[in-house]
Amino acid sequence: MVDLATRYMGLELKNPLVVSSCGLSKTVQGVKKAAEAGAGAIVLKSLFEEQIAAEVTELTGYAADAGHTEAFEYLQGYGQALGPREYLKLVSDAKQAVAVPIIASVNCVTDRRWAEYARQLAAAGADGLEINVGFLPNNASLTGTEVDERYEHILDAVREQIDLPIALKVGPYISSFAHLAARLGNDHVLKSGSRSPAEKLPAQHRRADALVLFNRFYRFDIDVDKLQLAGGNPYSTSAELHLPLRWIAILAGRVDCDLAATTGVHDGHDLVKQLLAGATAVQVCSTLYRNGIGQIGLILKQLEEWMQARGFSRLDDFRGRLSQSRSQHPEAFERLQYIKALVGIE
Ligand SMILES: Cc1cc2nc3c(=O)[nH]c(=O)nc-3n(C[C@H](O)[C@H](O)[C@H](O)COP(=O)(O)O)c2cc1C
Repeated sequence: MVDLATRYMGLELKNPLVVSSCGLSKTVQGVKKAAEAGAGAIVLKSLFEEQIAAEVTELTGYAADAGHTEAFEYLQGYGQALGPREYLKLVSDAKQAVAVPIIASVNCVTDRRWAEYARQLAAAGADGLEINVGFLPNNASLTGTEVDERYEHILDAVREQIDLPIALKVGPYISSFAHLAARLGNDHVLKSGSRSPAEKLPAQHRRADALVLFNRFYRFDIDVDKLQLAGGNPYSTSAELHLPLRWIAILAGRVDCDLAATTGVHDGHDLVKQLLAGATAVQVCSTLYRNGIGQIGLILKQLEEWMQARGFSRLDDFRGRLSQSRSQHPEAFERLQYIKALVGIE
């Protein structure tokens, strides 16, 4: 018998396989199916910042037209309270429907508005909150420091409001990712140079309980016949595993928070790779769209078989074994190895 239990962002999971935020987790039925299929936790479909902004604008528009300043102010507050009402219901219904942890998800590009919503999500019963910073830094006047600060401000604004476990889902377009990851995990580590579990620190010193690597931004393609932009494939393949794999291997044991992998995990071996690199949990989405929700059971079975074949009884028997911090050959994770590899090909 193998024990797949793990602790992720302070939550007890029966296994490390998490259904990531997507259309499969946007209804209570979807959540139930994922739980029945064996998911260790479920991240609900994101509530988008734009949804809330739209709702507030719609409501305040009436009052502004009528010239009632008081009513305008009232509705602004009211609108914000109403914004995520369906989402709050999804959170509380999902919590009642299943026993596995339910992680609410907000997709934001700024630190406005979210703090108050985070409080309401906590009150609705969410076990944790994943903040998906859906932000592509494509503005040439934006510096790397400003990009970093955006992530930090969003996290700080929410952290001030709630004491729920928080995961930050980040994009790959960051100039010095190891530095930002350490700051987001817990800047106490950078200051003191020491490591201590984030969960033991007082809440005000805690930052993210987990980082989720990496946000897979909407992809576009180009149609050469029509000479126009075309939609890219919304689903990943296993070939996309390498980017989060590299960064999890580099950061594991070096940042003071959990690491979850997202993008490119399609089967049991992909999951094993991420655990060997040092992931605490692994999120899946595309493989469930491609193969059906039953893929969760298959991936877990493959993980169990792999562990049994090697005599591992717990995840900690092998988790992080191939992380850079535990490697005898840390250079293998860096550029030099790439050049050596190319020598054989060219
Ligand atoms: C149809 C679809 C909807 C998604 N919606 C969200 C979302 O609302 N919030 C979010 O953080 N990620 C969303 N994602 C991204 C996934 O959570 C995941 O990070 C991404 O697909 C990479 O993982 P994968 O390779 O397992 O698919 C969505 C992905 C798909 C395919």
